Amino acid sequence: MTKKHAPEHRIDRPTQGLQNIFAPEALEFFPTACGVSGAWARVYMIQAFPPTVDAGWLTPAANLPGVTVSLHARPQDAANMIKALNRRIGGLAGQLATGKNAPITEQRLTQEMEDAVTLMKQIDAEQQGIFQCGVFLVVTAADPDTGLRRAKRLEGQMAAQGMRLRVLAFRQEDGLKAAGPWGLWDKALQGDHLWPVPVVAASWPFGGGGINHGSGIVLGHDSDGGLVLINRWNPPAESGLTNKNFAILSPPGGGKSHATKLMMLREWALGTKVFVLDPEREYRPLVQAVEGTWINAAGGQTRINPLQAPALPDTGEDDEATGTGLGTHMQRVLDFFQTYIPDLSPLQRALLEQAVEAVYADKGITLGMSPEALNRLTPPQWPHVGDVYAYGQQQNGSDWEILTALLRTAGEGVLRDLWSGPSTVPPTQDANFVVMDIHDLQDAPDAVKRAQYLNVLGYLWDLVRADRSERKLLVVDEAWMLIDPQAPQALKFMKSLSKRIRKYGGSFMVVTQNIADFLAPAVAGDGEQVLTNAAYTLLLRQGGKDLQALTNLFSLSDTEQDKLTNARVGEGLLIAGNDRAWVTIDTAPHETRLMYGPQR
Ligand SMILES: Nc1ncnc2c1ncn2[C@@H]1O[C@H](COP(=O)(O)OP(=O)(O)OP(=O)(O)O)[C@@H](O)[C@H]1O
Ligand SMILES: [Mg+2]
Repeated sequence: MTKKHAPEHRIDRPTQGLQNIFAPEALEFFPTACGVSGAWARVYMIQAFPPTVDAGWLTPAANLPGVTVSLHARPQDAANMIKALNRRIGGLAGQLATGKNAPITEQRLTQEMEDAVTLMKQIDAEQQGIFQCGVFLVVTAADPDTGLRRAKRLEGQMAAQGMRLRVLAFRQEDGLKAAGPWGLWDKALQGDHLWPVPVVAASWPFGGGGINHGSGIVLGHDSDGGLVLINRWNPPAESGLTNKNFAILSPPGGGKSHATKLMMLREWALGTKVFVLDPEREYRPLVQAVEGTWINAAGGQTRINPLQAPALPDTGEDDEATGTGLGTHMQRVLDFFQTYIPDLSPLQRALLEQAVEAVYADKGITLGMSPEALNRLTPPQWPHVGDVYAYGQQQNGSDWEILTALLRTAGEGVLRDLWSGPSTVPPTQDANFVVMDIHDLQDAPDAVKRAQYLNVLGYLWDLVRADRSERKLLVVDEAWMLIDPQAPQALKFMKSLSKRIRKYGGSFMVVTQNIADFLAPAVAGDGEQVLTNAAYTLLLRQGGKDLQALTNLFSLSDTEQDKLTNARVGEGLLIAGNDRAWVTIDTAPHETRLMYGPQR
């Protein structure tokens, strides 16, 4: 006995071992569900299809949480098919000819006949291949309650697409075999669904393929292990990317700044110039590692005088973000004051405007001056906030008193070093990596931080405009700091430059938490555009109110929401024009050292 079985055992052992690796720990079958290694599962088959299907018709089902789709397609012999179809058409014609059918049956028979004729044409005249097809769907969940909820959603989803699902009652085992990666398609589950090639192709459910532009910088890898490679400067035409901007969004600690530093470093290594506004002193090790220019722009050592207009060639435009000349710059100055002291009355605002014009006039700077003459002025020749304050002090009336009282801190109080005096920024025109740091203002009132954020943003924007090189990044971290519903001009400015940076060959990178702030009713139009104007969006771990807002903004599927809720630091969804990919940000050890200093 033992001897007889010995050779069989020798042959079986290796396959047995392999099967043990693949096989579930335990399987249990019930009439309409099954248990797979402790999880709940239910197998469905699509019973009836609508006459026509849209491209990607299986995608909605495949994107539902816990749903796996399995498609069997078996090529058919064309000659036999035509014979079979002829027979069916004959049968249907006979049934229709009796004229004794109920209207609803009549309609169904006519439709079936039309479908059969179309199919025959496709095979015969267009020489299209035909496949016998079957679609199986498995819903899985950790517990039956969740499973039944998911099953209901799947049924609803398919019904909405005009398909009828059938629970494989008492056939869960055969269903699981058909749905699994074994290719076991039981004869009893093979219907007469015959599809020409285009319908099979349209079923392809993997709407979110990889993102690989073939060149550019690596961001990480996707869920299939493929490289996520993006070339924002020269992307493939079919990618549908209309600009070079990036929005990086998550709650605190999601890994936004990390991902941003990594992209900056890799872009810089390929010759891109980088300009950064850093409220958190996070980019200092990196800028030092690449021997760029780090500037403390919080008022102590370096001052940016908001009243000094940039030296730029005349563009002939009077747009606040692109225009040059004193008129355009004065608008920015007024926005700056509005951001710093948002609750001025209309009269006080008018007086402030008068004061600003007067201090320019006092220095011999007038609206009629040519851009060349303006460009020749040196920093001490420009008026500053201290001059506006001093002018106000010389005027009489209660509104002037209120205005000067509100300007006192900046004019001669603790903030006088920040804005009251000539600009002292070192020349940065030739630097290829500039970080403007405003971290020392972290304990200052919000309005001060916000006004300086705007002031520095304006300065960096002027650097971008002055730069003739083709590739540059303008990066703003913690962009939510700029938002104040009472002073929406600051956000408007950001929106405007995010749109116009394209003209200067630049890419705007907005990095932020507090998405809901961007969508608040008072700023919604501008805030939403800042977030959605970017052709690239990287959503890292999400939750709560922000996830709801992002779902509406970017039409996130249930699976995407699920994945974002459970993402680890450094994982997220990259949306790049028409493409989406789940990406894990990969960092090389030498990059970590460059980004955080040698101690990491
Ligand atoms: N892809 C990654 N690989 C390894 N570590 C990462 C990655 N992403 C982030 N981290 C680490 O996680 C921490 C938080 O990341 P980061 O500072 O980038 O978050 P953030 O989203 O910018 O947060 P905040 O909104 O507070 O600025 C950091 O210590 C960072 O080094
Ligand atoms: Mg950060």
